[in-house]
Amino acid sequence: MTAVSEQDVRDIGAGYDPDPAYSMSLRAAAYTDPKWQDLERLQAPSTRTAVRVGDHRRDRLPYHAWVYNLDGTLRAARRTDRMPTFDKTGICLDQIQVEEFGGFVYANHCHIAHPEFVSLVDMRTYEVRTHGIWSSHFAEAGKQNNPAYDVSAASVTQHAVWWLWPNTCLLRYPGRGNFMVFQVVPAGPGRTLETWDFFFETDRLQDAEAEAVRYIDEVLQKQDISIVESVQRGMATPAFDQGRIVADPEGSGLSEHGVHHFHGLVLKAYAEFVNGTVAAADSARDQRHQRPVSFDPVDSISR
Ligand SMILES: [Fe+2]
Repeated sequence: MTAVSEQDVRDIGAGYDPDPAYSMSLRAAAYTDPKWQDLERLQAPSTRTAVRVGDHRRDRLPYHAWVYNLDGTLRAARRTDRMPTFDKTGICLDQIQVEEFGGFVYANHCHIAHPEFVSLVDMRTYEVRTHGIWSSHFAEAGKQNNPAYDVSAASVTQHAVWWLWPNTCLLRYPGRGNFMVFQVVPAGPGRTLETWDFFFETDRLQDAEAEAVRYIDEVLQKQDISIVESVQRGMATPAFDQGRIVADPEGSGLSEHGVHHFHGLVLKAYAEFVNGTVAAADSARDQRHQRPVSFDPVDSISR
């Protein structure tokens, strides 16, 4: 079995702060070192991704070759000078929250990672709350005319997600009454198996529901899988140890306090595991004084 020491638990928790506003993320070793994988028998998905946000002074997008200034305002769009109805000043790229750390620019990923999802739900209403061993994500449905799937006949207009420690997620998407169970199952070092179960009001799916399943299965999850695979590759590089949690005090969908909450639960489980094995080893040696490790993240604050 895994040899994880008290010191290992302290090391892996370095940089974590119970307050997400001050916290670093879970360290890369938790994702790559087999001793943690052995201990967990689970894989922790992360939502952080690094993207190329644009170099030089402005960005030219490939589709229509429009050129934007670095602040997102439109600088030039071919042929539009002939259009009296075309108001260049009214066009601006969507804003995303970015943070620079250690020479990398981190972008809160949903708008980049899931371009369809951000119009399926209204991201301005997206709210993440953490409670005990679970967290909730709620958002109101967004545009009826969105590229994900048809929600024009939706009776359920609130998207709801509950993440239950350690690896189960319950979801409800905009549409008719529906319920989904998503599980993240360890399948070996560096590999994870996802399972999805979909429940609908009737045996026969409406077209919009079949579309929703197809969207989740073939679009949304493919986007997430490619992100977590790229994050996992990044975790394995010697250049990366841990990153800064981006926490929005209002708990919006641009905030990573849900990820931070999960990291805290992982660290607590590590400490409890080591306490258990230390206590068992101590009693086996019939030692009179046991001093379990209590993982107190406050000890490791460096504000
Ligand atoms: Fe995602």
